[in-house]
Parts: sequence; structure tokens; C-alpha cells
Amino acid sequence: MKPAGSVLISELEIQRRVAEMGAQISEDYKGRSLAVVGILKGSFIFIADLIRHIDSSIPVEVEFITVNSYGSGTASSGELRMDRNIEISLDGKDVLLVEDIVDSGLTLQGVRDLLKTQKTRSVRIAALIEKKSKRRYPLTLDYTGFHIPDVFVVGYGLDLDQQYRNLKEIHILNAQ
Ligand code: XMP
Ligand code: MG
Repeated sequence: MKPAGSVLISELEIQRRVAEMGAQISEDYKGRSLAVVGILKGSFIFIADLIRHIDSSIPVEVEFITVNSYGSGTASSGELRMDRNIEISLDGKDVLLVEDIVDSGLTLQGVRDLLKTQKTRSVRIAALIEKKSKRRYPLTLDYTGFHIPDVFVVGYGLDLDQQYRNLKEIHILNAQ
């Protein structure tokens, strides 16, 4: 495997920011409970860290959904494939959708549409990274970790062809 490129966001920066996001979410959901719905696979490390920064007084459920718009490679295919549906009922629940990185917004819009069939109490979105420049589907993110320019990044759950997810930092991918 080729080495990933230069570090864009360090391990410490990620850990600090994820802790802040968890604190903010704890504040906003005080006295309520939360159903966290993660979009696999990219968000699995972010979710694991984020939920441990949500205050223990808030009951937290976790569910995962698999959605893919990239296939293999670094450009979105523009089509959404849903491989795993939500198995728990979200009726009446406060839902926090968690995504690793938002690019065009297609993935999140698709998942939001899917959730419309459930009578959720509320739906908010948390994303570790937002690529502002490429938004084609309008979406407001409620919690955003980092804004980055239009570069392809890997690490901390993010992959290229399933590789590099285990890196502790976010790296800009080397030109292949
Ligand atoms: P859309 O266009 O649907 O894209 O907002 C979001 C999804 O595309 C993947 N994605 C990336 N994955 N490095 C990655 O490893 C990137 O720089 C990148 N940009 C987008 C990601 O899976 C996300 O769910
Ligand atoms: Mg993804």
C-alpha cells in the first residue's frame, strides 16, 4: 500500500474537536434521549469517539446504515446505493445522523429522504468534515467538525478503496 499523503488534521485536533462536538450535543439534548444513526463505513471511528463524549445522563442508542455513492475511486458516482436499512424503530425519537464527510450532499439527502418514512421527533446532522465547495444538494449541518477545501482525504475511518481507515490522522491523499 502506498503511504497516504501529508497530514491535514492531526490526531490531537480531531480529538479536541470531537470532544467539543460531544459537549455541544450533550448540552443541546439535555433531558432527552438520542438515537444516533451512523452512515457506514466511513463514520464508524468518528461515532465511536463522539458517543463517548455524549454525557452519560443522556440515553444513547446507536444504529448503522450502509450507503455508498462512490464505489471505488475518488469521485462520486452520483448514484446512491443503500445496502443496509435501519432495523430499530425511530418513531418519536430524536435522531442524530452521523456522516464522516459531506461532499455533494447526495448521501445525506438520500438518507434524510429515507427517514421521512419514519415519524421521528427530530432529525439533526453531524459531520466530521464538510467540503464546502462541492455542495450540489442543499443541506444544513447542525454539527460540523472541520471545513476543508476540495481535496480527497483518508484516515480516521475514511478510505480509498477500503484502505487507510486505520490512520489516526486525516491525510490528504497523494496523487496516485
Ligand atoms: P456526497 O457527495 O454524497 O459524498 O456528499 C459523501 C460521501 O462520499 C465519500 N467521500 C469521501 N471519502 N475521502 C473519503 O474517503 C474523501 O475525501 C471523500 N469525499 C467524499 C464519503 O464516503 C461520504 O459518505
Ligand atoms: Mg461514506
